[in-house]
Amino acid sequence: MNQIVKVTTSTKEYEVIIGGGLHYGEEIAKVKKPCKVVVVSDDTVFSLYGDKCVNELKECGFEVSSFVFPNGEKSKNLSTAEQVLSFCAENGISKSDLLVALGGGVTGDLTGFVASVFLRGMEYVQCPTTLLAAIDSSVGGKTAVDLPQGKNLVGAFHQPLRVVCDTDTFKTLPAEVFSDGMAEAVKYGVIRDLELFEQFEKKEFDIAAMVQRCVQIKADIVGEDEFDTGVRKLLNFGHTVGHSIEKLSNYEVPHGSAVAIGMVVVTKAYEKANSLDNTMSERLIKTLKNYNLPVSCEYTLVDLAEQAISDKKRAGKKISVLLPETIGNSIIQDMTMDEWIAYIVNSGV
Ligand SMILES: NC(=O)c1ccc[n+]([C@@H]2O[C@H](COP(=O)([O-])OP(=O)(O)OC[C@H]3O[C@@H](n4cnc5c(N)ncnc54)[C@H](O)[C@@H]3O)[C@@H](O)[C@H]2O)c1
Ligand SMILES: [Zn+2]
Repeated sequence: MNQIVKVTTSTKEYEVIIGGGLHYGEEIAKVKKPCKVVVVSDDTVFSLYGDKCVNELKECGFEVSSFVFPNGEKSKNLSTAEQVLSFCAENGISKSDLLVALGGGVTGDLTGFVASVFLRGMEYVQCPTTLLAAIDSSVGGKTAVDLPQGKNLVGAFHQPLRVVCDTDTFKTLPAEVFSDGMAEAVKYGVIRDLELFEQFEKKEFDIAAMVQRCVQIKADIVGEDEFDTGVRKLLNFGHTVGHSIEKLSNYEVPHGSAVAIGMVVVTKAYEKANSLDNTMSERLIKTLKNYNLPVSCEYTLVDLAEQAISDKKRAGKKISVLLPETIGNSIIQDMTMDEWIAYIVNSGV
């Protein structure tokens, strides 16, 4: 049975369809009449699922072309975006046509960004093929490309028309890419859903049902705070420290691994600040290890703190910090950058 999550935002209502062996053409035809479609995908994903996607769209009457780029974060830039935009212009794509993002978060962010600016905005469908894209980047409408100066510096809020998540595609994911997504899944458990966390703890879950639950949490949060000014900050649990680790390692440490370590650091700091025992951090560590995620790193707390200061250039300014009050319920606390650094460093973890 396929799972469906409805996402309601001020700009669009759409459905996320989750299941094994979905027919891309049929799912997209439910929300779009036959038109020209450009399938945007990276070379790895296109070689695995490109023919299936293109053929299924053709079976449903769409006129399909495809744009394929080299896989990896290095392609998520303005140069690739320009190439996709030119491809659309050369192929006579009009405002009423459709882009389809077939791939992970890089493909989804890039395609969504192009869709937000081509002819001042056109529709696109997300077809996530990584766990991270399925439970995080494909839902919520944040699109972006990177600049040499930093990640996601150019982008727009632009919601997709539909999200079609075929969980069968996860079977070909490299183990470390799957683990990366599991860090974000565990994050959802910690911030909002004890029962989900317990499933991860016991390693007992059905993949489609798990994705549905994570997407539902993201949809609820995005529905409350589409433009990231309040509760959406909950999704940043573990991410401030995580970003410092990513930067210090020159992006050698993958995002999910960095977030996993970040969640452990913040949880231990919270326990210390509130004189709690380490039950919560021990459960978190054990659960992250279930999915081969790291729980510590070579950097000291001072390294992480200094990186955070140089990164944000905003010592003295307030940031919103996510703290796990209990597993399944986290809170947002505003602190100055200096207070945050002290919070982490004084924890001595
Ligand atoms: N927009 C948002 O809200 C949001 C949220 C979180 C992350 N992101 C972005 O997402 C990106 C990371 O996403 P990602 O981890 O999916 O990266 P990715 O798209 O680069 O995919 C990771 C790797 O897996 C390969 N791959 C993808 N699907 C596969 C499959 N089914 N089988 C085999 N290989 C497959 C890809 O070719 C790539 O090499 C980052 O750029 C990040 O900034 C965006
Ligand atoms: Zn993340």
